[in-house]
Amino acid sequence: MSAKKIRVDLGRRSYDIVVCRNGIKRLGALIKRLRLGTDAVIITNPAIKRLYGGKVKASLASAGFNTRFEIVPDGEKAKSERHCIRLLNNISKFDNSRRRIFIIALGGGVIGDLSGFIASIYRRGIPYVQAPTTLLSQVDSAIGGKVAIDLAVGKNLAGSFYQPRLVFSDVALLKSLPRKELISGLAEVAKYGVIKSQGLFSYLEKNSNKIFKRDKNALQYIVYTCSGIKARVVEKDEYDNKNIRVILNLGHTIGHAIETAAQYKKSYSHGQAIALGMLCASFIAKELNLFKGRDHAKIKALIKKLGLPTKLMALKASDIYKAHEHDKKFIHGKNRFVLPVKIGKAIVKEGIPKALVKESIMSIYK
Ligand code: GLY
Repeated sequence: MSAKKIRVDLGRRSYDIVVCRNGIKRLGALIKRLRLGTDAVIITNPAIKRLYGGKVKASLASAGFNTRFEIVPDGEKAKSERHCIRLLNNISKFDNSRRRIFIIALGGGVIGDLSGFIASIYRRGIPYVQAPTTLLSQVDSAIGGKVAIDLAVGKNLAGSFYQPRLVFSDVALLKSLPRKELISGLAEVAKYGVIKSQGLFSYLEKNSNKIFKRDKNALQYIVYTCSGIKARVVEKDEYDNKNIRVILNLGHTIGHAIETAAQYKKSYSHGQAIALGMLCASFIAKELNLFKGRDHAKIKALIKKLGLPTKLMALKASDIYKAHEHDKKFIHGKNRFVLPVKIGKAIVKEGIPKALVKESIMSIYK
């Protein structure tokens, strides 16, 4: 399978997602066709720059672009007001009347969110390209234009919807991804299977070995399939206000509560928390007779196969419930859950009884 392309159809804000294997060489030429500008500001972190900075720069230079790297530290701390303002000032010093600047986000979700947010506010908006380097960002955060930084009181509190001009996902970059991060991304991949694709779900059941061996065909298949699903959802509900895009939040209601409760211990990655949250949602659906017990067991088995936890340890159930009640996903005081109704289909349901939510949390201690 050579490079594959998915169009995200959003009228004037439409763009392509290119899913390739070992295609960095072509990045410069692809961007050239889009006429985004003359000068690329590549936002990345030291580790990614060391691994891929040279290749990206060479590809852009051969297409005639000037390049400049802006480096942020690794991890969530890069999504801060401090780094955002620092980068805006650096970009403004680099900017002059002869240049037409655009941004390339070369990194995972943190770099994508920060870079997209900077692109959305610098000169009231300049173009940007997402070049995601983690599985999680290739299948989810690089697509759909949700960009943000964190504020002192909470994550993603300053943000906007601002679509990239290209998403360039090269699965060859996933070769250097630490196993823990690959597994974290697989939780989101499994999520797409549960909400939209029985075929993807069965593929994951049968091909986890290939994925762990970083087989490029397997990685390209899952990134391409998930990107297509996300693109179709975003097209129907770009601004997340039509009760459609919310389907992507399967597992995120309790998953976020686990992340919040675990915040200071850093004991759960995003994917691990989402996997456990998915099990809670699946349990609730089963108890409401919306979902077969047999399918609940299949989800649990897949999560295990993908190296994700099926049991919660080291956290108090009461802390998770408290974090859940403070979650922004409460609408008019009612909680809101995405619930599977079969493998490949999910619905959104509000006002799940407190006792059942608590029971679902207890179910992941067993
Ligand atoms: N990550 C969920 C969304 O983009 O809506």
